[in-house]
Amino acid sequence: MSHALVTGASVGIGSATARRLAERGDALAIHHHRHGHEAERLRQEIESKGGSAFSVGADLSSPKGWDHLAEMVRQRFPSLETLVLNAGAYPRRKVDELRDEDFEETLRLNLLSPFALTRRLLPLLRKASPSPARVVFVASVLAFNGSAHGADYAASKAGLLGLARSLARELAPCITVNVVAPGSIDTAILAHDTPEQRAERGRQIPLGRVGTAEEVAKVIDFLTSPSASYMTGTTVHVNGGLRMD
Ligand SMILES: NC(=O)c1ccc[n+]([C@@H]2O[C@H](COP(=O)([O-])OP(=O)(O)OC[C@H]3O[C@@H](n4cnc5c(N)ncnc54)[C@H](OP(=O)(O)O)[C@@H]3O)[C@@H](O)[C@H]2O)c1
Repeated sequence: MSHALVTGASVGIGSATARRLAERGDALAIHHHRHGHEAERLRQEIESKGGSAFSVGADLSSPKGWDHLAEMVRQRFPSLETLVLNAGAYPRRKVDELRDEDFEETLRLNLLSPFALTRRLLPLLRKASPSPARVVFVASVLAFNGSAHGADYAASKAGLLGLARSLARELAPCITVNVVAPGSIDTAILAHDTPEQRAERGRQIPLGRVGTAEEVAKVIDFLTSPSASYMTGTTVHVNGGLRMD
């Protein structure tokens, strides 16, 4: 049996990813922070279809949360075949209002926590069967384009690229590490868009619309499957053509 941990799996991209990995037969650790009910509903949905899952809450902006989540996964899983570091936040602050401590907080959640969890879970990842274990970081197109109201967010997501490439080199061949960089995806992160802002987003995207969480989940499914056997240290863009690299 393959075991998978998806962070931030209560809602949005993480929830779609957990659902998809469960459909292919993985036993799921569904991590959440504030949306415990949604995570629990997803667990019940997966189990009602014959799958296996447990949910676990942790605030990933602090070492206490990293320790707790890693410990819960160690208690339930003998090995970890798939690790998806998806939890993240985009607070949106102009640089004049962005205090040092705000910047640090964003880095702790979006950049340090993926590293801290990967490091804490290395012993389980090294036991993956079949090997290699597969790690995916969820970054953002803003790692490449920057953000006019989220320097901390863009920096944290850009940091993930260097982190993934470094870990991909150091942990090969027994662990692959890749990045997914979504563009504008229809989740709570875009919930504050006005209809005009939403229409404007669509106009800037060659495919003419924002993406769905499922469209990102499909790519994460691929990157954490044997189909991606010759991929590590790379970034896959899922952005409707908003940025072409
Ligand atoms: N949607 C987009 O347009 C877009 C574009 C590029 C990149 N991304 C990235 O995709 C990832 C998922 O975002 P999403 O769009 O699915 O947004 P979302 O619906 O807001 O989901 C964010 C997830 O992160 C978790 N989270 C937030 N703060 C946390 C904390 N302090 N500790 C632990 N978990 C925390 C949330 O848990 P709870 O809900 O349980 O609190 C939630 O499951 C993020 O890393 C985001 O930066 C999104």
